[in-house]
Amino acid sequence: MSAIQHLVRPQVLALQSYDLPPAGDGIRLNANESAWRGENDRYSPGLNRYPDAYPQWLSARLAKLFQVAPEQVVVTRGSDEAIDLLLRLFCREGVDEIIVCPPTFAMYKVYAQVQGAGVTEVPLDAGKGFGLDADKVLAACQPNTRLLFLCSPNNPTGQLLDEQAVLGLAQALLGRAVVVVDEAYVEFADRPSLIGQLERTPNLVILRTLSKAYALAGARLGAMVASREITDLFRRIVPPYALATPVLEAADALLDVQSLQSVEKRIKQVRQLREDLAAELATIRTVRKVWPSDANFLLVSLDNAAGVSAACASRGILVRDFSRHPDLPDCLRFTIGTPEEQSALLACIREQANG
Ligand SMILES: Cc1ncc(COP(=O)(O)O)c(C=O)c1O
Repeated sequence: MSAIQHLVRPQVLALQSYDLPPAGDGIRLNANESAWRGENDRYSPGLNRYPDAYPQWLSARLAKLFQVAPEQVVVTRGSDEAIDLLLRLFCREGVDEIIVCPPTFAMYKVYAQVQGAGVTEVPLDAGKGFGLDADKVLAACQPNTRLLFLCSPNNPTGQLLDEQAVLGLAQALLGRAVVVVDEAYVEFADRPSLIGQLERTPNLVILRTLSKAYALAGARLGAMVASREITDLFRRIVPPYALATPVLEAADALLDVQSLQSVEKRIKQVRQLREDLAAELATIRTVRKVWPSDANFLLVSLDNAAGVSAACASRGILVRDFSRHPDLPDCLRFTIGTPEEQSALLACIREQANG
């Protein structure tokens, strides 16, 4: 058994693959679909037909976008689903555990709890700009640790994790655990994805999403990118027909050359607006700290954060309030919006500061 197989749940290793009815354009009397389209069905193929069980063309196009081989990409319903499936692939209920580094994206812990896996927390070091404490992470790794979830750039703090620390951890954990780097916001960062490191780091998994820079949050599309061995094992538990025909249509439209060029432009714009917002916030008396950001949001520490959040809400401006979060007292997170949305936000914070 390989070092990776050794970490996989035995139930998954024993799974027999489900026998899917063959797809095709002939007379389809093999899947109990309706032979008739619905009244307002404008899709091709019609919504009366099941979509591709596993649309390989989409993995191939995402692979091109991410610059890896098609077999290294598995498309999921948002990266959320990839997190859930990784937990189900590697963690035995009541036996195995994961390591997370808070403050970070909450869903790693939630899906671990759903799966009945333990969660060990090794906090990021707030005093060192929310940096990763690699020694503490290594010390926390137990024989039943299966997954280490790292988020880079990290949500909600905004910064990239140190690349050498992440890769050093992956090396140190070879044969002991899989290191998952969630790169939901990497398109907004100065440094490229760690996807280029997959070849020499067999226990590395990268999560990508089309929900942020690619503006497709409503379509629910993400990807798990890893070695062929890990993607083969992961595919065993991906449900068939999960990606609906309208979603596949949205992905097809996004991935044409022109749309991708407009994504590039938008990323530049978001990065500029992020700097503009940070500079404006820094001039406000009640703002104590604007954390540097590699993402499409800013984490901000300010006086009376809960009051500011409530004042924003009363004007219909929704911000993320972390003021009661033990690691982020007095912090709010602002997503980068349009220039008009940012002006409205700044006006509200200034009013609170002067009131
Ligand atoms: C770090 C991180 N990972 C994953 C996700 C989930 O993304 P998706 O829409 O692809 O499920 C989010 C959503 O906010 C996120 O912040």
